[in-house]
Amino acid sequence: MYDSLPTHPEDKILRIMQLYRDDPRTEKIDLGVGVYKNAAGLTPVMQSVKAAEKRLWEIEDTKSYVGLLGAPDFGDAMAGLVLSDAVPRENVACAATPGGTGAIRQAFEMIQMASPQARVWVSDPSWGNHVSILNYLGIPNTSYRYFEFSTGELDFGGMLEDLENARPGDVILLHGCCHNPTGVNLTNEQWRKVADLMVAKELVPMVDIAYQGFGGGLDADAFGARLVASTCPETLIAASCSKNFGVYRERTGIFMGVSQDAGRVGLVQANMAHLNRQNFSFPPDHGARLVTMVLNDPQLRAEWETELEEVRSGMLALRQQLAAELQRQTNSERFGFITDHSGMFSMLGLSEEQVAKLRDDHGIYAVSDSRINIAGLNKDTVPILAKAIATVL
Ligand code: LMR
Repeated sequence: MYDSLPTHPEDKILRIMQLYRDDPRTEKIDLGVGVYKNAAGLTPVMQSVKAAEKRLWEIEDTKSYVGLLGAPDFGDAMAGLVLSDAVPRENVACAATPGGTGAIRQAFEMIQMASPQARVWVSDPSWGNHVSILNYLGIPNTSYRYFEFSTGELDFGGMLEDLENARPGDVILLHGCCHNPTGVNLTNEQWRKVADLMVAKELVPMVDIAYQGFGGGLDADAFGARLVASTCPETLIAASCSKNFGVYRERTGIFMGVSQDAGRVGLVQANMAHLNRQNFSFPPDHGARLVTMVLNDPQLRAEWETELEEVRSGMLALRQQLAAELQRQTNSERFGFITDHSGMFSMLGLSEEQVAKLRDDHGIYAVSDSRINIAGLNKDTVPILAKAIATVL
């Protein structure tokens, strides 16, 4: 049987992760996988999460199953974090999932179950795993223009023009904030236009929000998700806690189904439970419990928000330094867009050959599409990167 197994195209992010690990050079710089790193290059456990973990260790008296949808208070806490009071809680079905990717997978499967003819529209470019999972499931998908590679800017005209071709019932996958891989995001005004278009054309928004708090702050980053959830009749949301709580390996995420008709929520909820049962049965609980404790305890929450803000402002400072350094080293405004981008990533608009040169000649690892993880830098490595980019141009 094993002989008949197919081979699969390599995931370009995981490939870079491996190449970086295998590189014996000590001065190498990792700007590949989207994991937050502090100035020392470490991905620390947040203090607020650590404190919750200590408390949990003291009070947890069983590891028995929780429920197919996870703990209800996790759903409440996450609906509050992502949606605030944009929609009443009874209009939101929630299922805990293994990470944000688990939520994406469950949402795609729900789409396939409910409307097999629907096409899922994905930004060009998008996180590679979006299209990979859609294709794996055999879900029809297509792309909409989003990014102007040569200028590093949003192609909003192209995006609207393409979405005009969507059919009623099609699903539009939107990045809630901190677009991965480009770093380019919709303004609030542009979100309003997209929401209006989706209502007018009877399209279903699906929001992938994996970096809430890394861009403009917790509320600013949720603007789009809250807007579409309160405007469109039905909204699917996949949220991840991996990055903003730093609980990557705990696999903590949530799939939310918002409906303007609260009477529909029970059915959505039952289908979420069914999908969880078929795919992995009970979702992981440890990370979800920590997140719930942090969000619900005023002291832990304040501590977490402070830590998150430090992460965010640290990345902002690195962006500014990198843009200034690139301006100096290349003697041009070509990379000015870096300060307009937000979140963890920026796509630099370099060719695959230039990215390969950064890696081979300078030990700097970016994804082949020229996405860099800003958090992989520190103030000492920014000038090194800028100089290397100026050299490969
Ligand atoms: C990334 O985009 O690098 C992260 O979301 C990690 C991953 O799983 O690809």
